[in-house]
Amino acid sequence: MYSTKKTSRVFCRFLLVLLIIHTQLSFGQNTPLSKENKSKIKKIISSMTLEEKAKMLVGIGFELPGMPKGILPPMDPADDTIPYKVPGTSGRMHGLGRKGIPVLTLADGPAGVHIWNFGPADQVKFCTSFPNATLLSSTWDTALIKNVGIAFGNEAKEYGIDIVLGPAMNIHRNPLNGRNFEYYSEDPILSGNISAAMVNGIQQEGEGVSVKHFAANNSENNRTKLNAIMSTRALREIYLRGFEITVKKSNPWTIMSSYNYINGTYTSQSKDLLTDILRNEWGFRGFVMTDWYGGVDPVAQINAGNNLLMPGTYAQIKAIISAAKHDSISMKTLDENVEQILGIILLSPTYNKYPYSNKPDLKAHALVSRTAASEGMVLLKNDKNSLPISANTKVGLFGNPSYDLIAGGTGSGDVTRAYTVSLAQGLKNSGIQVDENLSNSYEQYLKTEKAKLPKASILTLLNPPPPIQELVISDSAYAEIAKKTDIGIFTLGRNAGEGKDRVVDNDFNLTLSERMHLQKLAYAYHSLNKKLIVVLNIGGVIETASWRDYADAILLAWQPGMEGGNAMADVITGKVNPSGKLPSTFPIAYDDISSANNFPGKVLPTKEKKTFNLLDQAVPSEITYEEGIYVGYRFNNTFKVKPAYEFGYGLSYTQFAYSDLKLSSSHFKGKMDASIKITNTGKTAGKEVVELYLTAPKGSLDKPAEELKAFAKTHLLQPGESETINLSLSPKDLASFNTKENAWIADAGDYLVKIGATSEDIKATQSFHLDQNLVVEKVHNALAPQVKINELKSF
Ligand code: BGC
Repeated sequence: MYSTKKTSRVFCRFLLVLLIIHTQLSFGQNTPLSKENKSKIKKIISSMTLEEKAKMLVGIGFELPGMPKGILPPMDPADDTIPYKVPGTSGRMHGLGRKGIPVLTLADGPAGVHIWNFGPADQVKFCTSFPNATLLSSTWDTALIKNVGIAFGNEAKEYGIDIVLGPAMNIHRNPLNGRNFEYYSEDPILSGNISAAMVNGIQQEGEGVSVKHFAANNSENNRTKLNAIMSTRALREIYLRGFEITVKKSNPWTIMSSYNYINGTYTSQSKDLLTDILRNEWGFRGFVMTDWYGGVDPVAQINAGNNLLMPGTYAQIKAIISAAKHDSISMKTLDENVEQILGIILLSPTYNKYPYSNKPDLKAHALVSRTAASEGMVLLKNDKNSLPISANTKVGLFGNPSYDLIAGGTGSGDVTRAYTVSLAQGLKNSGIQVDENLSNSYEQYLKTEKAKLPKASILTLLNPPPPIQELVISDSAYAEIAKKTDIGIFTLGRNAGEGKDRVVDNDFNLTLSERMHLQKLAYAYHSLNKKLIVVLNIGGVIETASWRDYADAILLAWQPGMEGGNAMADVITGKVNPSGKLPSTFPIAYDDISSANNFPGKVLPTKEKKTFNLLDQAVPSEITYEEGIYVGYRFNNTFKVKPAYEFGYGLSYTQFAYSDLKLSSSHFKGKMDASIKITNTGKTAGKEVVELYLTAPKGSLDKPAEELKAFAKTHLLQPGESETINLSLSPKDLASFNTKENAWIADAGDYLVKIGATSEDIKATQSFHLDQNLVVEKVHNALAPQVKINELKSF
């Protein structure tokens, strides 16, 4: 840190020394290896043949029970005899039996352990389906997320798994990304901290993670051939920042590189990304694996520091051996890659002969899932205290998802669960009377329609059938049900998954039949002076502004995991006071999104045929992030585009007062602490999420109106009770990424600390001064765009 005005050579050298010391220190903190393991690894490597080293860098291949042979690239025939420890898991790593190095097992996440169930029924291992990532980040509660991680990690460990392929943490750049349900937020600070909490929980159990998909994997169409073009500022501030926080706060065992290119280079082949940024700048000391069949050049991948090629093919093993023989991969690079992998293998449950039970405590984990689900639901609207409703209320329950909960999204992020509690079941469990005739009609209808669907198999993995059409109800039936019930509840559902993005019509926007239902229901209930509640059982953001007036209350339940119906009922009946807040903006219309014109990218002219990657088809395409850093609320607040529901928004059954905002100093000197008192001024116990936004002074760079820098959640405050929340700011929190200088720089001037209940509802403001420009961190010139980007600017 120094004044840019007074820069001298001597000072620069001093800085460099500091930087090196700092980097070494953080490497030290992040090194998971004991001295003993280090020397063990050195010995193992010195005894390994070239073939053994090459195999350690390539997975054993992808094979699931029931999967037809020959649809994927061949694996090494010598591996055919390696027995599966946990059939149905997504990947395995080569061991080295003669040195006591076992085969490790990798299973998908991020919503729970995913063991594919395409094989014989007696081999099914049911796992806990936790709420989707977007719901988890809506809790804004890192302690709770860590507990979810502990349950998740424990379950994986008890099933004999070494590494879970999650958490996933790409930015919600655009609501149509088919995988947003697996990701946390449009904001990197929220994503990074929630992800770090999840990693800390899982790894506390002695289980590994693979934080994915590194990086800028923000859409699914043509995902394996998509060039994401962006400025280095947008890359650093928005798309890498969350990963950086996770690496620094939780030291993940592994990272999964993504399928896409960034500015012309496949992420799995980018030394800039995997070595210069991830390792040399952030101090990452685990290993990097590719996404399944990601990238095209095994030699470039190994040279870039992408240690493990997953799920692994015979051709990759041969390519690495040949490259090492011809010096296109040096022995030093080969050994370093192997060393980093062995460092993690030695920590693994299998290496340490963990006596896994195959009997995780699924009951206890279901409870964790239910609690997390109810804590992350967001109450969007609650006119005249329509919610909560009391036991014995008679409910007319409408909408297919009310009876067939969408617990989570599709693809690898799905979970093979023993059961799913629907909203209908959850309400009944809470003593609510759900109209039986109506229930029976829905249940019968869904049973018949489901019987017509193709059987789930590996082939439906990336091509799930379209949703079942809404049950048609006659106008007279609406009126009749409204008459005999006290309240109407209508659930709208959405599902999506990897390999495909969502679309605007009939997905982001409601379908015609959903609109008709809503209008008719609203009419039937409102004409009798009764209320209509809408529940959103969705994986990603949808349009709400055009129809929200039909609803008296709207509960955003996201995709709440297998206990979802119970958790929804807990909130609807008031057993749990909602405290979730939005991790991403709900725009008024799709066109109000800053990336609307740049999603999902354009297909490039090519003669190339579509190629298959894990049953996925792709053609060369590119997407330009013209909105730059203006993603989500950064765009709405800076350009004054009113959303339907803003980032950080969420209602409670009680109210909170904010008072006594204090800053530790009026001048920034290395750190700034803020404290604020939160008082429950209502009649119901509740929790409040407190959000700290910072407005930086205009310097040489364009700055967003405000940015989230810190957050916390109170404990359950009883009516009248207060809690003082402490939040702090580091130099990096003040800084923006200056591309010309390749540095994070905080501009001198006045900074405004805004404590908000949402990104719009600011409750208290104080300012502090930074006397001189601060160069917080000098970094590598990495991943610069090759073309000029017409980036959005606020001036
Ligand atoms: C997904 C990854 C997943 C892997 C293994 C890929 O298609 O993108 O998220 O971990 O498959 O199932």
